[in-house]
Amino acid sequence: MTEPTMSLKKLQGKVAIVTGGASGIGEGTAHLFAQHGARAVVIADVQDEKGRLVAELIGLDRCSYYHCDVADEEQVKAMVDWTVQTFGQLDIMFSNAGIVSSSDQLLLDLDFSQFDRLFAINVRGMTACVKHAARVMVERHVRGSIVCTASVAGSRGRNKLTDYVMSKHAVIALVRSASQQLGQHGIRVNSVSPFGVATPSTCAMLGKEEEEVEKEYEGWTPLKGIVLKVKHVADAVLFLVSDESGFISGHDMVIDGGFLA
Ligand SMILES: NC(=O)c1ccc[n+]([C@@H]2O[C@H](COP(=O)([O-])OP(=O)(O)OC[C@H]3O[C@@H](n4cnc5c(N)ncnc54)[C@H](O)[C@@H]3O)[C@@H](O)[C@H]2O)c1
Repeated sequence: MTEPTMSLKKLQGKVAIVTGGASGIGEGTAHLFAQHGARAVVIADVQDEKGRLVAELIGLDRCSYYHCDVADEEQVKAMVDWTVQTFGQLDIMFSNAGIVSSSDQLLLDLDFSQFDRLFAINVRGMTACVKHAARVMVERHVRGSIVCTASVAGSRGRNKLTDYVMSKHAVIALVRSASQQLGQHGIRVNSVSPFGVATPSTCAMLGKEEEEVEKEYEGWTPLKGIVLKVKHVADAVLFLVSDESGFISGHDMVIDGGFLA
């Protein structure tokens, strides 16, 4: 993709963290942030090799990899503090790291060890990232922007994936609460809720290749002739973290081709 010209760059000079940036939606968004002039993008993930590779591809002058398991609050705190110490600021937190259950997780067969692991990442981890990003933004009087990745699964029930559906409802609740508490500091908090995208985790969950997954999803939305790509989600995140959405907070932006409507 060609880089936007200087005047069209939306994140000039900003410092951003992208959790789950080694793959899928996070990876695509980290690239877009850098293309839009972010001074530094920190990829926080547990896939060290992939994360380092993405940072190298983006360019080590603008992008760094930091090992961080978001389920561990101490690691999240250390990662946020390292970002501020290294780059002097934090303007943007894209709290995106999340997992899907490896099984269908039907309520009647619910496996609570899987349930606890998923909640530790998708809910507690997401909350720790919002908490510590907000902590340094408030301390440093930065009118920052925080975006969490929820899902269309956060707005309706499903006949499976009980734990995942519950976790994404919780993310939307987190965003609503955080927006109420952080607005006094000028910090905006929003979420994106994508429909299905053929990322590595979706392909692994469905046991299918990217093209097959896209084919499967294609018929589900009213919008025909187009499938949801990582770039569509990254574009929505870019809008929400940029000044273009300056009065938007507490909002869940669905990217679903009309599916929920
Ligand atoms: N792909 C979809 O269809 C879809 C739809 C709606 C929402 N989402 C959400 O989008 C987000 C990104 O998912 P994706 O589809 O890009 O998947 P992905 O597997 O491609 O990327 C997820 C990244 O998160 C990282 N991660 C997992 N656990 C972590 C942890 N404990 N600490 C730090 N990093 C961790 C993984 O290593 C991976 O790099 C997730 O929150 C997911 O729930 C995905």
